[in-house]
Amino acid sequence: MSLLQGRSILAETSMSPAEMQYLVDFGLHLKYLKRHNIPHRYLEGKSIALIFEKASTRTRSSFVTAAVEMGAYPDYLGKDDIHLGVKESVEDTAKILGSMFDGIEFRGFKQQTVDDLAKYSGVPVWNGLTDEWHPTQTIPDLMTLKENFGYLKGLTLTFVGDGHNNVANSLLVGGSMLGVNVHIVAPKSLLPDSKKVDLAQKYAAESGAKIMITDDIDKGVRGSNAIYTDVWVSMGENDWQERIKLLHPYQVNMDLMKKTQMPDDQLIFMHCLPAFHDASTEYGQKIAKEYGITEMEVTDEVFRSQYSRVFEEGENRKHGIKAIMAATLGDLFIPELTTFKK
Ligand code: CP
Ligand code: NVA
Repeated sequence: MSLLQGRSILAETSMSPAEMQYLVDFGLHLKYLKRHNIPHRYLEGKSIALIFEKASTRTRSSFVTAAVEMGAYPDYLGKDDIHLGVKESVEDTAKILGSMFDGIEFRGFKQQTVDDLAKYSGVPVWNGLTDEWHPTQTIPDLMTLKENFGYLKGLTLTFVGDGHNNVANSLLVGGSMLGVNVHIVAPKSLLPDSKKVDLAQKYAAESGAKIMITDDIDKGVRGSNAIYTDVWVSMGENDWQERIKLLHPYQVNMDLMKKTQMPDDQLIFMHCLPAFHDASTEYGQKIAKEYGITEMEVTDEVFRSQYSRVFEEGENRKHGIKAIMAATLGDLFIPELTTFKK
């Protein structure tokens, strides 16, 4: 039986570093099985609720396809489809869903909601993004790093941009758990909360990772193996004007990539997606018209460059989420892991 059996993944802190490492390796193993058409039906006969208060492409598609390929039935419950938080409390909804489904995914605003779903449902709950954490992004991202470099401990991952959003928090803590040096490079007002930094430092003391929190771009990016960024304005936020002004110097462009001073084969670019790298979408055009900017957190040149691993990273969401669901809900024996090779 998996050590994680019956557990919820609500944040990186829901796992020990060893358990997180296991999920990273298990995710790569499942990717290998999928590539070779080897069945891995760990969730035969299970039903899974997917609650989404916010939009999603990758997380929703990952949970749906991962569930089906492992033999489970996923049901999408959008914010207008159920009573959660409107006509019914989180506690009551959790009790009902927990009596019918074997596992629940939640994407939404408050961390408290996903914590309460876990508290009251009695089944494993997986955080598909809240305002505070995005753990089902971190595990696949660590898989992407390991695939590219062959190891994790000692690599340097640098997050540049809005340093106190959900993805930054998760990478800061998740990376430090597994010995990845994490740099957060952001304007002073967008640096991570001290509680998150303290937590990362605590894990880093055990793993040997080095943490750097700075508003100095040159110092922060030097020696990075991965430059990572995310949107400047996350879902639920609206302060475009202020953030564009603050974050423009932190845009990931070729100049910033060069500042890493790393050889080409030792440097990659990552982004959780969706990315604002051109103004080709309707939404992009509206923002471009209003604020006079067509590329935000990353230039189109870097996004499409040899450094970019963004689509591999997107695909890995599915394999990592499979690992999370199988380990917490599947009737698993611990398989001998096969490391995925490109
Ligand atoms: N990275 C990520 O969570 O993407 P979606 O918003 O498309 O799910
Ligand atoms: N920080 C982004 C991540 C999207 C996957 C958001 O919350 O909108």
